[in-house]
Amino acid sequence: MSAVSANPATERRVELVELYRRLSEGHACPLASSRTRLVFGSGNADAELMFVGEAPGSEEDRQGKPFVGRAGKLLDALLEEIGMRREDAFVANVLKCRPPGNRDPLPEEIEECSPWLFRQIELIEPLVVCTLGNFATKLLTGSRVGITKVHGTPQTHELAGRSVQLYPIFHPAAALRTESVRELLRADFARLPALLEEARASERGERPVDPAAAPELGPGLPKPEPPLDEGGGAYTRAAPGGVEADPAPRAAERSQLDLFG
Ligand code: URA
Repeated sequence: MSAVSANPATERRVELVELYRRLSEGHACPLASSRTRLVFGSGNADAELMFVGEAPGSEEDRQGKPFVGRAGKLLDALLEEIGMRREDAFVANVLKCRPPGNRDPLPEEIEECSPWLFRQIELIEPLVVCTLGNFATKLLTGSRVGITKVHGTPQTHELAGRSVQLYPIFHPAAALRTESVRELLRADFARLPALLEEARASERGERPVDPAAAPELGPGLPKPEPPLDEGGGAYTRAAPGGVEADPAPRAAERSQLDLFG
């Protein structure tokens, strides 16, 4: 959990559930009709570390959870090697729906989905955002420089209104295909604990982040307008403050978000 948080943890959880429901009900993604399940993201709502992948694959589409296939198993193994578990992090993707046949995300899909990702980052307030592969890296750095050049090099960015250490690393799926990439990914992973420690120190004010080194995130993505809740269900938005009247996650949500046990 961030030492200096704009948002108490309980409220953050409630707002994440609310965001999940808004996305489930009002997602205008072109892929919504071909997917099986929405993959919102899952993990620790108070995480200091957030992973951002590309898009759900077939297993993720089936289960509604991110990184539960082979690439996810590698992610878990790499986390274990540095003494961390999935529950210590929040894991999300740029796209919330699976592209057919796992093709690359299209620009219009990224445009539709990315405000939801930015809102997740805003709510979770991670200290370190680890981008997995090219799509997440290019979106969050706002740069066209690819993962082969930038992997393993932390960058300070202003993301969703906060200074964040952005740490691009190879996508685990690429690492599954190529042994040399696997070794690079493992080496980059090994730097994560120190990077987190540095980010905590900076958050405590021991080593202030140099604002000059924190470029604004490029294309100024809009925050999603809250879709109107038409009422009728248990879920109704409260007036200002954004905390809904029925914040308790339903059983299906609990299993999909793995968040709010
Ligand atoms: N690849 C991704 O980018 N995300 C997932 O959730 C699974 C595989």
